[in-house]
Amino acid sequence: MKFSHAFFEKNTFALLIGTLIVVSIGGLVEIAPLFFIGSTIEKVQGMRPYAPLELAGRNIYVREGCYNCHSQMIRSLRDEVERYGHYSLAAESMYDHPFQWGSKRTGPDLARVGGKYSDAWHVDHMKAPREVVPGSVMPGYPFLAERTLDTDSIAADMKALRAVGVPYTDEMIENAKADLLGQIAPDTKGGKAVAERYPKAQVRKFDGNTDGPPTEMDALIAYLQMLGTLVDFTTFDAAGPNLR
Ligand code: HEC
Repeated sequence: MKFSHAFFEKNTFALLIGTLIVVSIGGLVEIAPLFFIGSTIEKVQGMRPYAPLELAGRNIYVREGCYNCHSQMIRSLRDEVERYGHYSLAAESMYDHPFQWGSKRTGPDLARVGGKYSDAWHVDHMKAPREVVPGSVMPGYPFLAERTLDTDSIAADMKALRAVGVPYTDEMIENAKADLLGQIAPDTKGGKAVAERYPKAQVRKFDGNTDGPPTEMDALIAYLQMLGTLVDFTTFDAAGPNLR
């Protein structure tokens, strides 16, 4: 018998098997690369897991739904690179669970907002965006400056992230709370310890209220100020030398 299209059209069972084979090829093409994810994301110098205070800030970012208006992925298109800086590398979001790439940009992309403004600018902007940027449609989050940061659950949070592959060490988890408090206490032992454990961690009181307790504003601004600052793009070369 000639093996033709008619064969499949006349045999339901053959059609079913045939369909399954064709569909699973599509599935394999999508799934197979995930087994090699370790080698798909090239390692890049400078990337490290979030310091506890930054992680707490990231949790607030997710809790408040900032991702509804802000993406964190600069595409490799010329207009984006000229506006926001070097396009995002896969490695830059490898410790993000969940990632914050997004495609909705009511506000600008935030992947490299770290260091763009002063802490004071962020405090004013978070409290009342229109005082700083007239015509802004961003809502204010003044309550973040009033709310004391929860510092007790951060170690458990880091443990959960470790379970999904973020390389937090036992030492990092043991010192989670001390490091979180250290990052807002410059010139103290704790401040030095966190800067050593998490290279490039910025240590200072971020909400401007030097004597106050750690606030959610401290954490959120610590997070915003480190976004996109870990990889040194003055020396980064996509072709090789910076890759380990
Ligand atoms: C309803 C949409 C919306 C939400 C929700 C929102 N933003 Fe914005 N955001 C904007 C818009 C629009 C701008 C640009 C105007 C401005 O600077 O206020 C902006 C600007 C910013 C900027 C300055 C970026 C730059 O490069 O100039 C930062 C930082 C920022 N937002 C952080 C946040 C954070 C953190 C949250 C969550 C707590 C948040 N936004 C929630 C709309 C939003």
